[in-house]
Amino acid sequence: IEGQLRPKPTPWWIGERDRLLGLAEGPTPRYAYHLPTVRERARQLAAIDAIDRRYYAIKANSHPEILKALVAEGFGLECVSLGELRHVFAVLPGMDPARVLFTPSFAPREEYEAALGMGVTVTLDNVEALRNWPDVFRGRRLWLRIDLGFGDGHHEKVTTGGKTSKFGLAAGRVDEFVEAARALGIGIVGVHAHLGSGVETRAHWRQMYDDLAGFARRIGTVEVLDIGGGLPIPYGADDEPFDLRDWAEGLAEVKAIHPAFQLTIEPGRFLVAEAGVLLSRATQVVEKDGIRRVGLDAGMNALVRPALYDAWHEIVNLQRLDAAKDGAFDVVGPICESSDVFGHRVQLPDGTAPGDVMLVADAGAYGMSMASTYNLRALPAEDVIE
Ligand code: LLP
Repeated sequence: IEGQLRPKPTPWWIGERDRLLGLAEGPTPRYAYHLPTVRERARQLAAIDAIDRRYYAIKANSHPEILKALVAEGFGLECVSLGELRHVFAVLPGMDPARVLFTPSFAPREEYEAALGMGVTVTLDNVEALRNWPDVFRGRRLWLRIDLGFGDGHHEKVTTGGKTSKFGLAAGRVDEFVEAARALGIGIVGVHAHLGSGVETRAHWRQMYDDLAGFARRIGTVEVLDIGGGLPIPYGADDEPFDLRDWAEGLAEVKAIHPAFQLTIEPGRFLVAEAGVLLSRATQVVEKDGIRRVGLDAGMNALVRPALYDAWHEIVNLQRLDAAKDGAFDVVGPICESSDVFGHRVQLPDGTAPGDVMLVADAGAYGMSMASTYNLRALPAEDVIE
């Protein structure tokens, strides 16, 4: 397996600088996605023998070319809303529904009905849905999402396990679910857990896999264990390494104990984050009380991760990539919110000036898919690079 992710390799956008500067001649802000990087990440995961099935969580980035590229690499698609399901079948009219998962949270009845009608694999995460809408689920083959009692992730807002999380059936109610499902002639053929986004702890992955296998044994009809998404990427050069090879070895060890079950993953970020950059132009450079700020025409409307999770993204002046980074700037957007800040004391060329093309790196996941028109600013444009 390739892909010890450390040291952080030279990003693709350095070699594509001229092309990106050309794209930025068009309206900004705009995202650019590098499909070769998406394919490279897909192949890193495809090389892991312990994993039997791979799905892409399209919430990370649902650009049609990315979906097509990943399906061509053998990935299925994981959706969480009827909107995502419709998008998938509109972009890929011939897509086999058996390769599509529907894993919603607190979705309305109609979405379950529609998803089952489409023939995709539906995951339930509570008993109440069975009790309230028995006719919707009667006789179906379903997957069950379980809250294993612990979560993990890069921020508390993206941690999806444990008592305070809204996700998953409480582990203590699995027997109750199984009983209710049996009474309706439902076959529970998969069990699922997703600890959160950006799960670094190797022990958590192993424990999740092992716990799910335990539940699968107890249920008796389960064929598939889905250990969710959540693979991290190194946003910062100094980020703790996530060693893909070590992760894969951990999975293989657990698989050796539970060979009867197919192992499934459904990452989003890992496949697309590093493939995407956000291009914008500097609007103004302003000094106030000893702090110099460079404003971008992209703000939290275009990329909300820094405002929402204090997420760190590398920011460079693409126009002056070769100049020394001899100035410190707060990089801000044009939105009327104090949280509209991409970075504090970012080292940029001292001569950074209005009109410069600026690049925010590793923005391919949860960038455009979470963008809004707040302040009635336009959504960013999108380009794909082959
Ligand atoms: N499966 C399920 C059930 C999920 O809820 C998610 C993400 C994934 C898979 C994919 O997770 P990934 O591999 O991308 O970590 N907006 C946040 C991340 C929210 C993730 C929501 N669920 C961020 O920008 O960090």
